[in-house]
Amino acid sequence: MTDHETLANLLQEDRRFEPPAELAANANVTADAYEHAAKDRQAFWAEQAERLTWAERWNTVLDDSNPPFFKWFTGGKLNAAYNCVDRHVEAGRGDKVAIHWVGEPVDDTRDITYAQLKDEVSQAANALTSLGVATGDRVAIYMPMIPEAIVAMLACARIGAPHTVVFGGFSADALASRLDDCQAKVVITSDGGYRRGAPSALKPAVDEARTKTDVVEKVLVVRRTGQDLGPDGWDDDVDVWWDDVVANASTEHTPEAFDAEHPLYVMYTSGTTGKPKGILHTTGGYLVGTSYTHHAVFDLKPDEDVYWCTADIGWVTGHSYIVYGPLANGVTQVLYEGTPDSPERGRWWQIIEQYGVTVFYTAPTAIRSFMKQGREIPDQRDMSSVRILGSVGEPINPEAYIWYRNVIGGDRTPVVDTWWQTETGMIMISPLPGVTHGKPGSAMTPIPGVAADVVDDDGNPVPNGSGGYLVVTAPWPSMLRTLWGDDDRYVDTYWSRFKKQGYYFAGDGAKKDTDGDIWVLGRVDDVMNVSGHRLSTTEIESALVSHPKVAEAAVVGAKDEDTGQAVCAFVILRENAGDGGADIVQELRGHVRKEIGPIATPRQIMIVPELPKTRSGKIMRRLLRDVAEHREVGDVTTLADSSVMDLISQGMSSSSED
Ligand code: PRX
Repeated sequence: MTDHETLANLLQEDRRFEPPAELAANANVTADAYEHAAKDRQAFWAEQAERLTWAERWNTVLDDSNPPFFKWFTGGKLNAAYNCVDRHVEAGRGDKVAIHWVGEPVDDTRDITYAQLKDEVSQAANALTSLGVATGDRVAIYMPMIPEAIVAMLACARIGAPHTVVFGGFSADALASRLDDCQAKVVITSDGGYRRGAPSALKPAVDEARTKTDVVEKVLVVRRTGQDLGPDGWDDDVDVWWDDVVANASTEHTPEAFDAEHPLYVMYTSGTTGKPKGILHTTGGYLVGTSYTHHAVFDLKPDEDVYWCTADIGWVTGHSYIVYGPLANGVTQVLYEGTPDSPERGRWWQIIEQYGVTVFYTAPTAIRSFMKQGREIPDQRDMSSVRILGSVGEPINPEAYIWYRNVIGGDRTPVVDTWWQTETGMIMISPLPGVTHGKPGSAMTPIPGVAADVVDDDGNPVPNGSGGYLVVTAPWPSMLRTLWGDDDRYVDTYWSRFKKQGYYFAGDGAKKDTDGDIWVLGRVDDVMNVSGHRLSTTEIESALVSHPKVAEAAVVGAKDEDTGQAVCAFVILRENAGDGGADIVQELRGHVRKEIGPIATPRQIMIVPELPKTRSGKIMRRLLRDVAEHREVGDVTTLADSSVMDLISQGMSSSSED
């Protein structure tokens, strides 16, 4: 059900910001694009496909003969890495900086031109081939934010080996299950990376993952920190140093053109069950969608702009808006390894000043944490170069929007609030900076070429001023094609809710305001959004239940001022565990961190005697959310035992929070 309470509290937001006149006059995309695209959506996307270099032109823009298994640009052939790198060099732009890399240790920097990137990607492609990777084989990438991570992704794309990048913050267990699910033959990793002023190891997690799955044949290791790998930290049969095999490989490599529908990558994300979903993206449509949206939404001018997206390459934002979209467009961009506050709290602003960043893309959770620290910190830096600010990952509350615009954007820059998902591959709903007036808190309207709406339970569009479910009503080029190895789950998760209409169901609730502009409210399923990261309640419940002292667990996402939502867990201990011991809460938090990773660590764990269940045994998370958010507990009439909530509320005093 949509959160009616939230809907009822329609934000009384009447501040509006017109696009700056100069930006509007020179914008890459103007207002007529909407109408032009709506007239013939396929023709519009075919025009955008001309932005790329195709080895063979497509015959059909959209093959919709077998919905929801849509295909785009069928018959077309291209190489993604060629489009992101080689063609810029061939066009005489080889000396242009592709990546200003900034390591976390101060002054540890590297500028990489497109010509250098081409050489490195070619070397890595040759090295992967020599390690036995063939077209179609999967390669996992588990790396910090270093240039080799991008080189590794592009090298995979170059040889047609789908990559699966696993966020470096995920645990060995989470890594192992992903390696296993997509049968990754090779893992590319590094000894470690720098986080908060210290080296943080990665290779040991790969070693541990290899004890849980035997699919991996080779591990290619970049030397980043030089840290000691320990006596058992190297396996001569499996491990190879990047410096040995990549640095010595030839810089000559001819990219093969692959079918437009050739798999480009698998990105795991949380769904409503315990098992992560492998979202499959393919080559042609994905590149068309990401490069067009990057051009349109960020008004990207490759010869003038310095672009910076702060996402990690382990998430889809890093894939679409660090690697594929921006590089296909030939940008110069900043890539930063570390945390925003190392070695000082103003590190990000210092980087913006130093490199003259013009377009900056980050997440509301980061903005809120900077708001807390106060504007004195960013005010110490000259950020007059910035001309466009972007936001992604969760709804941006109007106060954070205004602060972002004023403090980081000097009260002159448009803020584009971009709604999209791992599944959509590209930005779907967003203002266009030279066209749309900004409305703090609203993602506004679908971009040209995208058809989305807010509908009621029966799939009918809701009138302006009402809320419902966010749906995409027509296929788009960078849409997911399926879930890796699970077509049924793909159909069931996204296409069954509004089957009659053939709509893609995004899992989000939204409202249309009186102008018809869209406000995304958040998930309507059992998925949480913690600091812009997607987490599944069931996945964390399974992690908790795998602890020997736990009998049952229920997890909810409770509102949190800093992280948007926070993980709150209610746990019933096994009888033989007694009261679990004094450290039970810490023990369980540590267990979740080990099973999934630090991002999933519950903010709060409550040991309870019972869980609220319906007569059919379904946990009523709604009631637990009330408890976690300190609200009066709602209607309990459907509970099998209505005294359960009293027991839980009484037990609250013994709960732990930090
Ligand atoms: O709930 C929406 C929220 O993030 C979800 C997608 O998460 P993920 O696949 O991890 O991708 C995050 C980066 C694209 C969505 O279902 N979300 C993302 N962007 C916004 C948002 N919610 C509100 N406003 C946004 N701009």
